[in-house]
Amino acid sequence: MEILDASGLGHVSVMIHLRSATEDDAALLLAWRNDPITRAASRSTEPVEFAVHLQWLRSNLSSQAVKIFIAEHDGRPVGVVRAVHCGEYSELSWTVAPVDRGKGIGAEIVSRAVSVIGVRPLRAEIRSENNASIRIAEKCGFVLQRERDHFLFYQLV
Ligand SMILES: CC(C)(COP(=O)(O)OP(=O)(O)OC[C@H]1O[C@@H](n2cnc3c(N)ncnc32)[C@H](O)[C@@H]1OP(=O)(O)O)[C@@H](O)C(=O)NCCC(=O)NCCS
Repeated sequence: MEILDASGLGHVSVMIHLRSATEDDAALLLAWRNDPITRAASRSTEPVEFAVHLQWLRSNLSSQAVKIFIAEHDGRPVGVVRAVHCGEYSELSWTVAPVDRGKGIGAEIVSRAVSVIGVRPLRAEIRSENNASIRIAEKCGFVLQRERDHFLFYQLV
């Protein structure tokens, strides 16, 4: 994979590895969830408290319907992709670590997750002003189905 390096001055090649999330990722995932840009892109924009988050994570990890993948580069976590099986489809969502945004990581981890998860159709809900995520979805083959209340509904069949 080719990404911009942190200085933006050149390109470096990095390998992204996806692993399943565990309860040990709770603090990391909460920090990414409570990042202001992540919140602005979410349906629920309020900060989440640790106890509530831990309960949410435990429930996700114990559910057969949910898969959470942590993306790592050189053993360092750089993003997360979550898939929730909702009956006829699976809903995909993603976040890149704030310090790692703008380097091509989002597009790479979503593309990887789409391959690893395998199931179709996949859907994604994206705020209409979230241009980076719109680009990621379209690069990964998602097609816009409809728009409602400032959200775009994408599907990959
Ligand atoms: C949205 C997010 C996942 C993007 O991840 P990223 O690693 O920064 O994105 P990438 O660097 O892979 O960029 C993806 C594409 O969007 C483009 N892009 C990046 N920022 C952009 C912007 N502000 N406007 C338009 N395009 C943009 C990139 O150029 C790239 O397109 P290209 O491959 O054609 O050059 C990341 O910013 C994030 O985690 N945001 C907070 C949480 C969030 O929004 N999650 C998604 C909810 S649907």
